[in-house]
Amino acid sequence: MDHTASIRLDEKEFSLPVMVGTEGEKAVDTRKLRVDTGYICYDQGYGNTGSCTSGITYLDGDNGILRHRGIPIEQLAESSDFVETAYLVIYGELPNAAKRKEFGMKLRQNAAIEMQMQRIFEGYPRDAPPMAMLSSIVASLAAHYPDLATNSFERDLANFDLAAAMAISKVRTIAAMIYRYQKGLPYVFPKQDLPFCDNFLHMMFSEPYQDYVAVPEVARALNLLLLLHVDHEQNCSTSTVRTVGSSASNLFTSISAGICALSGPLHGGANVSVMQMLHAIHAEGDDGTRFIAAAKLGSKDSRLMGFGHPVYRNFDPRAKIIGKACESVLQKLGIKDPLLDIAKRLEEAALKDDYFLSRKLYPNVDFYSGIIMRALGIPTSMFTVIFAIGRTPGWIANWHEVAATPKGRIYRPRQVYIGPVKRDYVPIVQRV
Ligand code: SDX
Repeated sequence: MDHTASIRLDEKEFSLPVMVGTEGEKAVDTRKLRVDTGYICYDQGYGNTGSCTSGITYLDGDNGILRHRGIPIEQLAESSDFVETAYLVIYGELPNAAKRKEFGMKLRQNAAIEMQMQRIFEGYPRDAPPMAMLSSIVASLAAHYPDLATNSFERDLANFDLAAAMAISKVRTIAAMIYRYQKGLPYVFPKQDLPFCDNFLHMMFSEPYQDYVAVPEVARALNLLLLLHVDHEQNCSTSTVRTVGSSASNLFTSISAGICALSGPLHGGANVSVMQMLHAIHAEGDDGTRFIAAAKLGSKDSRLMGFGHPVYRNFDPRAKIIGKACESVLQKLGIKDPLLDIAKRLEEAALKDDYFLSRKLYPNVDFYSGIIMRALGIPTSMFTVIFAIGRTPGWIANWHEVAATPKGRIYRPRQVYIGPVKRDYVPIVQRV
C-alpha cells in the first residue's frame, strides 16, 4: 500500500509519509509540514493528533476496546490484580513469580514517609482539597530523594526501578496520610507484611489500638478499581506527564504535574462530581429528569457527569466492569445504596434519550466508581486521590517512554496567532 499522503497547498502538491501502528491505526506524519509548506496543523485539544508513538495502551473508542500491552482489560480485571497490572504496564510483560515477588517487596520496603516529609502536611489547612495536597507533597519527593530526581535522563533512568516503586508506594501512603491529617487522626504507618490494598486500607482506617483488617471483598473491590485506572493512552493527565518529562524533569515532578491535570472535574475530578450530582438528585427526590434536561442545554457546567468521553464513542469498557462490580460488592457487603438505584435510572433514561445517543455519550469510568468507593468507606473528597493512586503506574510507564526515547523531542506545540497585528508602543500620557 502506498504509504504517503498528498496535500495540495497554494497550487503545489506535497507528499507526506503515512505511519501505520500495530493495530492498523493510520497517521499522516506531519513533522516536515511546516518546513516544506509553511503551514502547521490546527487541532484544538489535539483530539486528532498523535503526540507520540507508544506501546503501552491501545484504545479503540468506536468499539469500546482497551488493552494494556495487548492484554484486554476484561481479562486483567478477571484474572490479574493492581500490582501485577502495574508491573505489566511499566515493564511491558506480566511478571513471573520471582519478579512479582521482587516487585511486591520493593513496594513494601518503600511505603513509609519519613519524619521530615511528615512535617509538610502540617502546612496545610485541614480542609484543603486533597488533590492540591497530593500534587504538592508528591512533588516534594524530588526534594527528599534528589539522587532519584537529578533531572538528567541518563541518571534518572539508571535509578528508574527504585523511583518507580517509590512513586507507586508513596503516592498511596501520602494519600492515606492526607485522609488522616484532614480527619485530625494520628498517622497509621504501613505494615510490610500487608498486600498493597490491605495496607492502604490499614493506613486509612486503623485505630491506635484496633487494626483495620479489610474483608476480602473490600480489598478485592479496591484492587479492581485501581487496576481499572492504571493507564488510558494519552489522556489529559498522562500527556501532561509526558510533556513535563520531555523537558528532562524527573519522575516525581512529572507525576505531580499529572496529579494537577487529573484534579479537573472534566477529567479525574468527575468521580467527585458524579457523587455530588447523585446526592443532589437524591436530596431533591428527583428521578434525574431535571438533571438530564439541564445537561442537554449544552453548558459545560451542567453536564451529566460520568457521561461522555474524549475517545469512547461507545461504552467505556471500564464502566461496564465497574457497573457489574458495584452490584456484587454492595450485595456482599449487605449495603442498599439509593444512589446506585438513581445512577441506574439515570443511565437507563440517558441511553434512551436522543441527545445522548446522537452524541454517542455513554457512561465512562467515573459514573459508577464513586458508589463502590463510598461502599468501602472512602469519603467523596478522596475519590480523585484514589484515581491518582491507580493511574500512577500508567504515568510512570509513559514518563519512561519519553525518557528512554533516543533523540526524543521536548513537547512544544505551535499555535495559530489571532492577537493584534504589529503596532507601536504608546506612552501613558497619550493613552485615553
Ligand atoms: C476521564 O481521556 C481519558 O481517557 C480520560 C479518562 C481516563 O481514564 O484518563 O477516561 C478519565 O476523564 C473520563 C471523563 C470524565 N469526565 C466526565 O465525566 C465529565 C463529563 N463529560 C464531559 O465533560 C465530556 O464528555 C468530556 C470532557 C469527557 C469529553 O468532552 P469532549 O470530547 O471534548 O466532548 P465535547 O465537549 O466536544 O462534547 C461533544 C458534545 C457537545 O455538545 P454539542 O456542542 O455537540 O451540542 O457532547 C456534549 C457537548 O455539550 N457533551 C455532553 C456531555 N459530554 C459531552 N452533554 C451533556 N453531558 C455530558 N456529560
